[in-house]
Amino acid sequence: MRLLDRSYPDSSSFLGRTNLRCSLLLLLVATLVAGEIRAQAQVQPALVGRNIDAVNRAASESLQQDVAGPNSEPTLPSTHPPLSRTPKRDAFPDVELDLTPSSFANQEGLIAAQRILPNVLKVTASGLTGVAEAGQSLFDGIAQVLQQSQLAWANLENAANLTRLVQDSLANRLGGSISSSPFSLSINSTMQSDSANDTNRALAQTPTGNGTFWLELIDHNGSATYNPNPSSYPVFRNVKDFGAKGDGTTDDTAAINQAISQGGRCGQGCESSTNSPALVYFPPGTYLVSSPIISYYYTQLVGSATDRPTLLAASSFQGIAVIDEDPYSSDGSNWYINQNNFFRAVYNFKIDLTQMPATSGTGIHHQVSQATGLFNVHFEMRQDEQNGQQGIFMENGSGGFMTDLTFRGGRYGAFLGNQQFTVRNSSFENCQTAISQAWNWGWSYHDIRISNSTLGLEMRTSPDPESGSQGAASILAYDWTLTNVETAFNITTPDSGTLILDNISIDNVGIVVIAVPDSVLLAGSNQSSVIESWVQGSFLQNKQRMQTVQESSRINVARPPSLIKQNTSSTPWFSRSRPQYEWAQPSDFVNVKELGCAGDGTTDDSQALQRILDDSAGDKIVYVPHGTYYLASTVTFPTGTRMVGEVWPVLMGGGSLFQDASDPQPVVRVGEPGDAGIMEISDMIFSTRGPAPGAIIVEWNIREQEGSQGSAAIWDSHVRVGGFSGTNLEADKCAREQPLSNDCRASFLNLHLTSNSSAYMENTWIWTADHDLDYGDRAQINLLSGRGVLIESAQGPVWMYGGASEHSVLYQYNVVDASNVFLSLAQTETAYFQGKGRAVASAEESLSIETYHDPNFNLSSTQSSGSPFQDPSDPYENRGLGMRIANSTNVFVYGAGFYSFFDNYNQSQVSARRSQKRILWLQDLDDDANVWILNLNTVGVEKMVTVDGQDVVDEGPLRNGFGNTLAAWATSL
Ligand SMILES: *[C@@H]1O[C@H](CO)[C@@H](O)[C@H](O)[C@H]1NC(C)=O
Ligand SMILES: *[C@@H]1O[C@H](CO)[C@@H](O)[C@H](O)[C@H]1NC(C)=O
Ligand SMILES: *[C@@H]1O[C@H](CO)[C@@H](O)[C@H](O)[C@H]1NC(C)=O
Repeated sequence: MRLLDRSYPDSSSFLGRTNLRCSLLLLLVATLVAGEIRAQAQVQPALVGRNIDAVNRAASESLQQDVAGPNSEPTLPSTHPPLSRTPKRDAFPDVELDLTPSSFANQEGLIAAQRILPNVLKVTASGLTGVAEAGQSLFDGIAQVLQQSQLAWANLENAANLTRLVQDSLANRLGGSISSSPFSLSINSTMQSDSANDTNRALAQTPTGNGTFWLELIDHNGSATYNPNPSSYPVFRNVKDFGAKGDGTTDDTAAINQAISQGGRCGQGCESSTNSPALVYFPPGTYLVSSPIISYYYTQLVGSATDRPTLLAASSFQGIAVIDEDPYSSDGSNWYINQNNFFRAVYNFKIDLTQMPATSGTGIHHQVSQATGLFNVHFEMRQDEQNGQQGIFMENGSGGFMTDLTFRGGRYGAFLGNQQFTVRNSSFENCQTAISQAWNWGWSYHDIRISNSTLGLEMRTSPDPESGSQGAASILAYDWTLTNVETAFNITTPDSGTLILDNISIDNVGIVVIAVPDSVLLAGSNQSSVIESWVQGSFLQNKQRMQTVQESSRINVARPPSLIKQNTSSTPWFSRSRPQYEWAQPSDFVNVKELGCAGDGTTDDSQALQRILDDSAGDKIVYVPHGTYYLASTVTFPTGTRMVGEVWPVLMGGGSLFQDASDPQPVVRVGEPGDAGIMEISDMIFSTRGPAPGAIIVEWNIREQEGSQGSAAIWDSHVRVGGFSGTNLEADKCAREQPLSNDCRASFLNLHLTSNSSAYMENTWIWTADHDLDYGDRAQINLLSGRGVLIESAQGPVWMYGGASEHSVLYQYNVVDASNVFLSLAQTETAYFQGKGRAVASAEESLSIETYHDPNFNLSSTQSSGSPFQDPSDPYENRGLGMRIANSTNVFVYGAGFYSFFDNYNQSQVSARRSQKRILWLQDLDDDANVWILNLNTVGVEKMVTVDGQDVVDEGPLRNGFGNTLAAWATSL
């Protein structure tokens, strides 16, 4: 969330129309320099300033880039040829499918295949049970995959995408018949083209259907339940229906902005609203734009996934960026508070800046916060020596997650400043600097590939972080590949900031880590080699004394097989991008509103939804049009469910079933206990209608199908509790001025991973609202949500990338009796109302220690694990936890941000690190438990780590800007 806000200087003079690039940089200065703390409008004590020097340096350096350079004409990626023929049943491509896991990860093989595919005409499918039965549809699936692979490779994609497409396609087509075996794709790179065979040539270019993305073709009957005019308010908008041409020559700016803004949406001056959502769809084409596409609150901009549209910046383009997600007004303020800029997505685009002068151009101004997504976007930039272009410009916010991005060219691939973020599966090539980290509290970067660039990552650290001056405080980089890069990591102030490298492959890299001006901390090599680990920062093992290091090989994490990508030599942690079902046709979908759900916020949809899910599992994709689906009883998602929401529809549990906190009931059960198989959920929201003290909002029981890693999964979906229309938990009843009340009890537990479960979760925000998104002036609210995320998965594997859990009473994450759990990163805030004048945390919610493994704040010190909470009557001692890990093994927290901003809504203790005493409790972990916390960042907390009954890390020596950073804690190093 949103803590740092600023009061702006009068910056209207910055906004001359003549030099927008200059305005942008000055606004950056204004934005960062005037950093202040507050939560909502009521609280504004000035506490912390950003690092003025660093920002000035950044700005002047960037400005220096703004010089004219010679024009070059880079070639644009070509689009695929038009689709013409329907493949014949007996014409199999020369692709072998077999049941033995082999060369998925063999990038070279895939690259070779990609070169051949456009001419490849023979296709054979062999060794795959079910071919005969699946017949045409299997064949279509494979053809689609081949088509996709061409597209993917033509557009700088990677092997993982192809792998996933194949898996998705086959898993869908064959269902149970591949259930017991892993499968793999091996492409025979010796295959020859057969120019005589026209049928087969057509095949190689022909996917299922006619190549149109299903989203363009299905019915759109979503409705914004609490909009003033739900019957006339359009949720789905196709930009071509608003006059956009996509022909590469017509200026489509106005038409696109009309498609976004039409219908009383939440724009300038609105702050937030869940009542005017929009999914704005872009068919394939090249959309010329001359000024920013302005994305409003609660908007998804989605391009065709089968043929990504290009947003082409005109040579005369004026404005901050091609897509602007938080515009600056003329007085220098943003339309939306940067830390509260929730619910945005940008999926499936190419953004092309190459027509612009090399001196300027930005792909996206991505100043966003939680529940936002940037996915499957390519940034094409100029490659001139004198270069001022950048793909992403992010100067502020509180995110977040992004993935599957590719950058080519530019001064910066991405210029990034934000509290915390997770970025994964992204590649940069021919950039001058791939990533500039302008400032942060903590970031995790997974699976980043950088090639042909001068500098990999520039870490703009503060010269004086102990004083509170904010630079790039901490970075965890893991599973990277750098090829032909002069310098991999540049720390701009020596000995400042925490940098952790884990499993970094280099090939022809001059210097791996340098600190300004020229101290080479880790030399490179012109050979290929692997940096197992390197750390600048402080760490400790168990309860020993802390050490501060700047050296290699301090972190040697034993990665369990179930959590790493299988069949790879480099053992990266496993990850999986969201499926988009590119192969699907409209007939592959069922629309829940067409089959009996009302989605009107009042009708009980639980029976209808259950029936639809039962009928569709393993067969159809369930499309949930936008709306509020009220559920008076539990709905179980059966194994084989695939569900896609339209711009985050809400499944909202309420009523008598959810009233008893001593017998809590799930709103949504994902799988029955004991189930194993496929589960895929994306773009959904789960919630309650209050009061609901006995609601477990999502109970996740399913585990992945044997042999199909990460097949039980959810992406870009959130638990959002209270504070929005329809919840009956809004500021009219639950404003912070009112006492905590039973009417404001919002849930018992927000997300429960039960003992048999495994899960792949990506970009999931578990948020008990701290302020109202819809009501009145968006005031702060007191909601009682007992527990955040409970992970009891006994075997795992559990992955959570880009996760956050905020404002529950007892804890945000509780990992108990679990094994093989990977979180990267995990961000938390404790409840704002805890503290003086209120009962202590544990008294807010009666404990369920036996059944739900609540942390026992009252354990006496004579008990084995002890309790650090010596004085439970002292509110400072006894508050909600950010995370507890107890009696577990193989738990890996790859980046954490645990924040406590408030003492009963008072922020005066934050900078002193005295908002609460403890936040991370590690309990009953054996020395060989293999539990790692990497890059732990805390805010407002005195004792950063507590092990059993002992506080082992004091914040004092670890101040690092606004927060504190510990590079690593481990049960055993
Ligand atoms: C594909 O089929 C849909 C529905 O039949 C149609 O609307 C669309 O125009 C077709 N697209 C192409 C490229 O032929
Ligand atoms: C690196 O750049 C050179 C020269 O521009 C080019 O020939 C080569 O293909 C590039 N390699 C990669 C991996 O981008
Ligand atoms: C590192 O960054 C500093 C400050 O921006 C710059 O002066 C220096 O040239 C950079 N060094 C390398 C090797 O990139």
